[in-house]
Amino acid sequence: MNQVQRVAHRGGAQLAPENTLAAFRNALTLPVDAIELDVQLSRDGQLVVFHDNTLDRLTNGTGNILDVDFADLRSLNAAASFPGGWPQPEQIPTLAEVLALVKGRLRVYIEIKLSKRDGVYGRYPKIAEAVVREVWAAKMLSQVLFISFDWPVLTELRSIESDLQVGALVSHDLWTPKNEQSVRELCDEVLSRGCQWVSLDQRLFADPMVNLIHQRGLKLALWTVNKAADLERLARAGVDSLTTDRPDLFSYLS
Ligand code: G3P
Ligand code: CA
Repeated sequence: MNQVQRVAHRGGAQLAPENTLAAFRNALTLPVDAIELDVQLSRDGQLVVFHDNTLDRLTNGTGNILDVDFADLRSLNAAASFPGGWPQPEQIPTLAEVLALVKGRLRVYIEIKLSKRDGVYGRYPKIAEAVVREVWAAKMLSQVLFISFDWPVLTELRSIESDLQVGALVSHDLWTPKNEQSVRELCDEVLSRGCQWVSLDQRLFADPMVNLIHQRGLKLALWTVNKAADLERLARAGVDSLTTDRPDLFSYLS
């Protein structure tokens, strides 16, 4: 079996409140190589680690992240909706806090999110520059893979700093697998964005894609794989990175 990178999705979203320091601390105790996290900007321009565009599902607050100042985000409990409850409140962390926690211990997959207001997607102003600056300040450029569904932001990242690892996230909305040619076309598009990685929704994956993607010189990541048998099978198929909400299951990988 190749050396697959084992990635804790949002720190391991089924084991602890997602994208909190509690989840990332827990990931440090598990057999993982990397954490995945999502970044957005507060109204006053602080880089925060949070998945949804609104606060409603995960916290005791409401409204859009982009309409709330950092101090107010910090007063919320990001563990409010954890299934089965959580013993204490958890704050929404900053990107800097998470980087400091895992520096020198785990790789970090930083997903740059689009903003959304009234159903309309947009890009957070200067988010690419802000994220690169933060990672650079933490001296962690070589530890980070930058990922996004917003492919133009990936091109922007590489133009800010050419020495970055960058991966294109691919969902059903962005690409439909039809045949070998469609996989090659996807690879060409991803390469034209300056990416080294293609990162697929696992439901789009079929085994022959491994060789096709490797032949193009790209690495292949899959998300989000939450069953032990699937992790094992996909690692054996030659996938380079597997992201899961259940990073404890990596202990079963031989
Ligand atoms: O790692 C990629 C994956 O996190 C993308 O989907 O919605 O969980 O951010 P999402
Ligand atoms: Ca994500």
